[in-house]
Amino acid sequence: MNMAVELNNPEKRVLGVIQSDDNKNWTVEELSKLTKFEDQAIIVGAGQGLFEKGLVKGTETKKVFWKLGIEGVNAYTNGLLEQKLWEWVLNSKDTSMKSLQSSSIVEKHEIGIGVGLLKSLGIKLENGSFVIPENKNEINSILNERKQFLNKIQSSERGILENNLNEGLLNHFKKRKNLISSVEDITRTWIITSDGKYISSEQLEEKVLIAEITPELLQGDSWKNAEFKPYDVSLESSTPLTGKPHPMQSLIERIRSIFLEMGFTEIEGNYVQTAGWNMDALFIPQDHPAREMQDTFYLSNPKTIPIEDKMLEQWKSIHEYGGDTGSIGWGGEFSKDIAQRGLLRTHTTVNTVKYISENPNDPCRVFGIGRVFRNESIDRTHLPEFHQIEGIIMEPGANLPMLVTTLKTFYEKMGYPEVRVRPAYFPYTEPSLEIEVKWRGQWLELGGAGIFRPEVTEPLGCSSPVLAWGMGLERLAMLVLGLDDIRQLYISDLEWLKSQPVL
Ligand code: PHE
Repeated sequence: MNMAVELNNPEKRVLGVIQSDDNKNWTVEELSKLTKFEDQAIIVGAGQGLFEKGLVKGTETKKVFWKLGIEGVNAYTNGLLEQKLWEWVLNSKDTSMKSLQSSSIVEKHEIGIGVGLLKSLGIKLENGSFVIPENKNEINSILNERKQFLNKIQSSERGILENNLNEGLLNHFKKRKNLISSVEDITRTWIITSDGKYISSEQLEEKVLIAEITPELLQGDSWKNAEFKPYDVSLESSTPLTGKPHPMQSLIERIRSIFLEMGFTEIEGNYVQTAGWNMDALFIPQDHPAREMQDTFYLSNPKTIPIEDKMLEQWKSIHEYGGDTGSIGWGGEFSKDIAQRGLLRTHTTVNTVKYISENPNDPCRVFGIGRVFRNESIDRTHLPEFHQIEGIIMEPGANLPMLVTTLKTFYEKMGYPEVRVRPAYFPYTEPSLEIEVKWRGQWLELGGAGIFRPEVTEPLGCSSPVLAWGMGLERLAMLVLGLDDIRQLYISDLEWLKSQPVL
């Protein structure tokens, strides 16, 4: 072979290194170190160029690493579902399905899967109760193996190489949702071919290819005869990691711009509120179950926040006998002390109601996106802190079709054209609606809406109809981001965050 082979500078240097050992498979890292090209993309490009000229042979090895998924982290810390159930079966006097359903050892939605897992371990349901089988020790050792498996996976930050894991257990966990997840790692190596080995340096001609177009280059004449490095769009490249907003923040921005574009003005409010504004102003009876400690975070500091007596008197008359609204109220005795208790707002409707009280006669369209607090235990679809998208339209002649159209327009702009409303109940609206959006063939409830009752608007001095709604932001985020666990939004899972599109 006496033909001259044209190589660019990285190719020449990379070939030089690969030629130095006939039998070695060179990795990108090794070549990068020896050629002093720090950018690994240059090495990969050079390797590809040499391969196309038949001077080297490349191999790609894919390695699969397994890490704990979101449920896996949960199982690692709190125990596997079947483990919890098995311990319950072993230690309970009453092992009936009924008693399981009323116990709090696992979440309601886990029971079905859990029972399936128990059955697959050979634990049978007889007459509605679980029976401890003969092979108790066998079950214990299976569960122990599963636990060890998760421990092993957890022990390395980058995950455990697939080949180092027990195949049976791996297949078992692969079938279970979100317990483990895989990461692929591709290693490229190059080895010399016989053509590459015997090519002499005289046969190599260095070609200068322009890889970067600069203003200087274009200002002169040299580009006219230059050769440009072609792009190879088929090559894999690393995704540059740049800072970007959290998906929740991006979503909030998107919602904000939709309401602004629909002519709404944004309002804000404090997390700390009184029961009076959060509930009494909304005609929520003082003995309503949602007011209980287990649903609402009452504050010990400030325990009470004073409210103007004029306002308290208004609510008192409305709640006790309907004031002069024509309503008969709730009856009973209204407590001004209860109204002045401090709490963390349980919904953002408190913001819109306060807004009306400050501007009772100015027609308006306002919205707010804010955090609310409810004393709920955390699970797949519940968080004690979440956000609501709240809004009102107040103007003479405002009516129900206007409300429905506004909500439909909002969801349509979000990318969900199929929206329906259903009758619902809230103490402060009449009529009251539930808003549902169609997603993957299913109707999902995303919020409540309605027209404020006179018991709410009249004490505030407002005489126009007020259309109101409050929708869950995290629920919507789950649709937009395709999540089946709400906790994913807030666990700061860097891998997940990196892979999220900028909304
Ligand atoms: N505040 C209600 C909730 O938290 C939603 C709602 C707002 C309903 C306004 C009607 C009117 O679910």
